[in-house]
Amino acid sequence: MTKHAQSTVPAKLVLGDKTIELPGLVGTEKEHAIDISKLRSATGYITLDEGYGNTGSCESEITFIDGEEGILRYRGIPIEQLAEHSTFIETAYLIIYGELPTHDQLRKFSDLLTEEEMLHEDMKHHFEGFPSNSHPMAILSSMINASSCFYPGLMRGGFEPHRFEVQAARLISQVRTIASFSYRVSRGLPIIYPKPTYKFTANFLHMLFSNPYADYDLDPQIVRALDLIFLLHADHEQNCSTATVRMVASSKANLFASAAAGVCALWGPLHGGANQAVIEMLERIHADGDDGSRFIRDAKDKDSGKRLMGFGHRVYKNYDPRAKIIKKACDDLLHKLNIDDPLLDIAKHLEEVALREDYFIERKLYPNVDFYSGIIMRALKFPLNMFTVIFAIGRMPGWIANYKEIMENPESRIYRPRQIYTGHTKRDYLPMQQRG
Ligand code: CMC
Repeated sequence: MTKHAQSTVPAKLVLGDKTIELPGLVGTEKEHAIDISKLRSATGYITLDEGYGNTGSCESEITFIDGEEGILRYRGIPIEQLAEHSTFIETAYLIIYGELPTHDQLRKFSDLLTEEEMLHEDMKHHFEGFPSNSHPMAILSSMINASSCFYPGLMRGGFEPHRFEVQAARLISQVRTIASFSYRVSRGLPIIYPKPTYKFTANFLHMLFSNPYADYDLDPQIVRALDLIFLLHADHEQNCSTATVRMVASSKANLFASAAAGVCALWGPLHGGANQAVIEMLERIHADGDDGSRFIRDAKDKDSGKRLMGFGHRVYKNYDPRAKIIKKACDDLLHKLNIDDPLLDIAKHLEEVALREDYFIERKLYPNVDFYSGIIMRALKFPLNMFTVIFAIGRMPGWIANYKEIMENPESRIYRPRQIYTGHTKRDYLPMQQRG
């Protein structure tokens, strides 16, 4: 059953000589909103908020962020506790179904993930159609969408509550299989099938790095580090890709189509693609013999076209709590694996300098999750263009939970924002011979 925000003191809006009352709403964490859904019918006005920086697009029970305080909780549980005690799969269950699973629920969920991990054999031919240098994010979004063709229930569109558990498990599991196949194909390597005895994250590493005659040697520290990355990316309320998934879902498109759209939105360097962009930036700084100081100077200059990638966030005006956890995990992992990465030194120097600079202080720009995650992924030997794919695998539970929330809400409407038109006013069609 959908829970609603509570009513609170209404707001009064004065428009010329007219005053109207708009309902006030408050969420469970005391976030306040003004309900403007009837504003246009009452006054003819819409609100304008390009980039949605101040617009709540939905009520949601999944994830809470307090950007000023640097707080992130999945279903009420702080990210720090989940990072310390949970696994990606347990957290995925929590995000999708709202509660931590019992022992039996977790076993059933894990079994379902294993049952659904194989792609339809015919899908292998699709992989062969991509050029060998294709970006795996392009392959991922195409193949998620293509795989819905193999499940007639999905193709009928809409939401099938009795099939949801299977569809959700299939998506989580197959995204990982598709991602590893796309990596193998892009390297001209034979595909490695999942092993039913392996858990989710170990299986991914196996499919990526085993070869036909020898299994990849699974180091528990590496498995744990990757699992942590998945867990920290598992949801993040109404970010660009999740809002995209909800947008597509609001038209009652199927789960796979909605998730494929999410992958496309995630790809951009201002969103999930930032983890790749951070490493490219660090590599450039290193190649230029800069310790980061010159780059910071450029990042402050709007005309340089440069930004400090992995810094800043629409919601966090404080240290991103995920970045704190990842920074520590990064230090620990590199130490344990005895890796000395000059890019980590540059990253730390950049952070140190940026946090002292007025430009970054005034704008409340702090490292975000992407600032250090790329360095861990480098240490784990992932190729650069797989970084955002890893983010997408991690974000899948969040997209699925948001999809479910839309589908289970009987009051959900199609997402359809309005605009302020600034183009030509009415003018007549000119025949070709009269055009200049
Ligand atoms: N380097 C230099 N200046 C910056 C940066 C940056 N990374 N980020 C923001 N600014 C400046 C920006 O120029 C603007 O300055 P002014 O007020 O003088 O015009 C001010 O800070 C506000 O920036 P904005 O672009 O209006 O902020 P936004 O909320 O629209 O954008 C952002 C948020 C994350 C897209 C942006 O901070 C950015 O481009 N960061 C780098 C890319 C990045 O790391 N993205 C990953 C985000 S976290 C993972 C995820 O959830 O996707």
